[in-house]
Amino acid sequence: MEFLLLLFFIFISSITTTFFVSSAPVQFTPPDNYLIDCGSSTTTTLPDGRVFLSDQRSASYLSSKDDIQVSVISVDGVPSSLYFTARIFVQKATYAFRMSRPGWTWIRLHFFPVNNTEFNLRNSAFSVSTDDVVLLHSFSVNDDTGWVMKEYLLNVTTERLSINFLPMKNSVAFINAIEVVSAPDILISDVGSILPAGEFSGLSNKSYQTLYRLNMGGPIITPQNDTLGRTWDSDQKYLNPKDLAKSVSVSPSIINYPAEGLSPLIAPNWVYASAVEMADSSVSKPNFNVTWKLDIDPAYGYLIRMHFCDIVSKSLNDLYFNVYLNEKAAISGLDLSAITSNLAVPYYRDFVFNASMLSPETLIVQIGPLNDHNTGTVNAILNGLEVLKMSNSVGSLDGEFGVDGTKADDASSKGAVAAVGFAMMFGAFVGLGAMVIKWYKRPQDWEKKNSFSSWLLPLHAGQSTIMGSKLGSHRSNFNSSTLGLGRYFSLSELQEATGNFDQNAVIGVGGFGNVYLGNLDDGTKVAVKRGNPQSEQGINEFQTEIQILSKLRHRHLVSLIGYCEENSEMILVYEYMSNGPLRDHLYGKNLPPLSWKQRLEICIGAARGLHYLHTGAAQGIIHRDVKTTNILLDDNFIAKMADFGLSKNAPNAMEQNHVSTAVKGSFGYLDPEYFRRQQLTDKSDVYSFGVVLLEVLCARPAIDPALPRDQVNLAEWGLQWKRKGLLDKIIDPSLVGVINPESMKKFSEAAEKCLADHGVDRPTMGDVLWNLEYALQLQEASSQGKMMMMEEENNYKPSTGAAAMPVAAATSSLPAVVVVSQQPDLPSSPDNRSLLESNSNSPAHVHAIDDHPGTALIPQTPGINGR
Ligand SMILES: *[C@@H]1O[C@H](CO)[C@@H](O)[C@H](O)[C@H]1NC(C)=O
Ligand SMILES: *[C@@H]1O[C@H](CO)[C@@H](O)[C@H](O)[C@H]1NC(C)=O
Ligand SMILES: *[C@@H]1O[C@H](CO)[C@@H](O)[C@H](O)[C@H]1NC(C)=O
Ligand SMILES: *[C@@H]1O[C@H](CO)[C@@H](O)[C@H](O)[C@H]1NC(C)=O
Ligand SMILES: *[C@@H]1O[C@H](CO)[C@@H](O)[C@H](O)[C@H]1NC(C)=O
Ligand SMILES: *[C@@H]1O[C@H](CO)[C@@H](O)[C@H](O)[C@H]1NC(C)=O
Repeated sequence: MEFLLLLFFIFISSITTTFFVSSAPVQFTPPDNYLIDCGSSTTTTLPDGRVFLSDQRSASYLSSKDDIQVSVISVDGVPSSLYFTARIFVQKATYAFRMSRPGWTWIRLHFFPVNNTEFNLRNSAFSVSTDDVVLLHSFSVNDDTGWVMKEYLLNVTTERLSINFLPMKNSVAFINAIEVVSAPDILISDVGSILPAGEFSGLSNKSYQTLYRLNMGGPIITPQNDTLGRTWDSDQKYLNPKDLAKSVSVSPSIINYPAEGLSPLIAPNWVYASAVEMADSSVSKPNFNVTWKLDIDPAYGYLIRMHFCDIVSKSLNDLYFNVYLNEKAAISGLDLSAITSNLAVPYYRDFVFNASMLSPETLIVQIGPLNDHNTGTVNAILNGLEVLKMSNSVGSLDGEFGVDGTKADDASSKGAVAAVGFAMMFGAFVGLGAMVIKWYKRPQDWEKKNSFSSWLLPLHAGQSTIMGSKLGSHRSNFNSSTLGLGRYFSLSELQEATGNFDQNAVIGVGGFGNVYLGNLDDGTKVAVKRGNPQSEQGINEFQTEIQILSKLRHRHLVSLIGYCEENSEMILVYEYMSNGPLRDHLYGKNLPPLSWKQRLEICIGAARGLHYLHTGAAQGIIHRDVKTTNILLDDNFIAKMADFGLSKNAPNAMEQNHVSTAVKGSFGYLDPEYFRRQQLTDKSDVYSFGVVLLEVLCARPAIDPALPRDQVNLAEWGLQWKRKGLLDKIIDPSLVGVINPESMKKFSEAAEKCLADHGVDRPTMGDVLWNLEYALQLQEASSQGKMMMMEEENNYKPSTGAAAMPVAAATSSLPAVVVVSQQPDLPSSPDNRSLLESNSNSPAHVHAIDDHPGTALIPQTPGINGR
């Protein structure tokens, strides 16, 4: 219910704030749009029409032990009534938002130290961070600043975006208003390969803070007049000296956006309709630069975007000028006519600055005449300037430390090179098509990279109360155990196996490093995951992981073969799964469609792997990132869960102070309850598995932003159709007519139960497994045209090792279908014999919760498990 409410709010708040552009037909409706007036008892509507929710209406986003609001009737000198109220936190507090899609997102934080009798907010110091990025470190609003608005642009890659407020010792944190709003992905691209003037790729991995956004020679542009609710400041106070510059402006309506690419989303026409030019340009041969000086912090890198639009020339090919950044040539002989082939056409260019290249604490932007140029008017213009601070190597935008306490190593490193001109685009330029394509392709790309969190530490073992204690005892067993760690590989051996980590051998990419296909001496193919040595992951943790991973052996878990730690390399070697991720066989890759029976068998395999993680020998392991890209298929299409591991169950003090409860997981798969309560149970995996089931049935991604709004999220869309009893209308066309209706019914019921809003209402993986087995039986029975019904009692044969399992299926009160099955052929070594026993849970040992015909069903083929 809460979840639905949340969605409802998302929906409502999205439709109320569509930004319209008068001059150009460009409109961006942010998919996510959270606006909160903190500390306010009433909803606040700003002059631009945006509606900020009151505390009460935004309560579902906030988790805080404190409930302190302060307000004043009115204050002078603040831009809006948002600043009249604030919320104060004595302890850590978190606002968490559910994001509907990955990509660029604005976070705007509004601060004003509201006068009150309890706390002196002017002296308070606090930190603000997301789960990955430090936004503010030990921040204070000092006396002379009054109000402060901080704007950030983050590439959101997790479904849950949280903003954590952490007071410094003996202090409090406060916040007046929060905006979390999607930004169009064209705003900043990763593309570094369009123009050859040197390039920097990886912009999409960075987080940004807007330091300056200036409308040269024009008025302040308020959120009202900007397509995306941005504020553009006047440049006048940064001109130095002022008297060499002159403002010029035209009517915004004459700005002629190119047909594609550069749109008012990049900057509104008001920005391009004004400029600063050289003051004396009527003098015969003026020779000086117009200069702006901006304070910056040299410990960071910057993205500098310069906007140009020729609104001064009377004719084409009359204006040529130079642009300098920190006294180095950035663009020599800029010829806007050649680029835009028309007057009044916007153009912009991005530059990436290395921290070390900036002269102390000042960014100098200059425009000046082209020296040896004899024709044309002598002039130079600049229409707009944006300076964005880039997050450093540990994901911080303030201070030296990352969210996890790691220290930036790039802060002081010198070694400057010239300004790296980073390409950009304008309307009529090539490459825009490529960007459009990129935007449509993005969700897939994104999915791949999302294994960031699931490299070595993908899953949390029981942080919930139930699971936690189990894990504790198991861990100590593991640690004291003398069992082996898998095979040790030397670095040279792995170098040879992968062609010295050849780029062509890369079969997967994660934030932690690449995955390579390796060929061992004996011809065995292996998947080699090479951790980035710079990763914050310590060597001890790496060893613990190996110890634990090497004990997890199950036919439906991708097994760890060995590892290598040499020269501070951290490499894990896994069995190679030649048929790749399940997802590739469902959609997007044009592979032959899987039959319904194959799909069922794959789901059963995956369910068995998860069931083992939850309840098997290493019980209490929660995968945390169940999705179709983490279900891999071997030569024989046997499904195995990949990317599983263990989390630390005792976070160190630093983590505890920060955000040890970061919710990971992938878009479209995230358990709403885990989202709300940040309390992880094995039922979170069950939810994600429910999404997998729908994906298998409907052959479409869990999130598809290209679809109409009500169809974007597969879980919601599928449940909607299931409730209408019309799920068969949206299934994979290749299944239509082939799938047995009963089998599909059973399957979709299982999916629906997995997707229950509350964990307690969801089945266990064992139950799910049972239902899937049943769905397979129904399918096989129908395709063979016969179904043998028999009394369950006659056929229940417990196998060894089943004694400890609940045998609910065998009790007469629960009419159960019993499937007798073979032991799966697991890898056997003396070391894991005990594992073999406990993971031999055939469905017979798994209890059924479902209501189904009171008959037992004997499989036609006995070896249902042994496949
Ligand atoms: C702040 O509030 C106190 C009393 O609560 C009052 O005495 C003081 O003048 C106020 N200061 C300002 C700047 O309004
Ligand atoms: C950006 O992240 C992706 C995946 O997380 C990675 O492959 C790429 O190398 C990163 N780029 C940079 C410049 O860090
Ligand atoms: C966000 O980052 C991910 C991972 O680095 C990347 O794949 C994606 O393209 C980025 N999104 C945008 C809009 O740049
Ligand atoms: C904002 O737009 C309105 C018309 O839409 C215009 O009258 C007003 O002057 C603009 N303000 C600024 C600061 O550009
Ligand atoms: C403009 O500035 C650049 C870099 O600081 C300098 O090299 C150039 O000589 C200046 N031009 C004039 C005309 O002063
Ligand atoms: C900064 O310099 C380092 C080496 O000195 C280089 O690897 C990095 O790519 C540079 N970054 C930018 C933004 O130019």
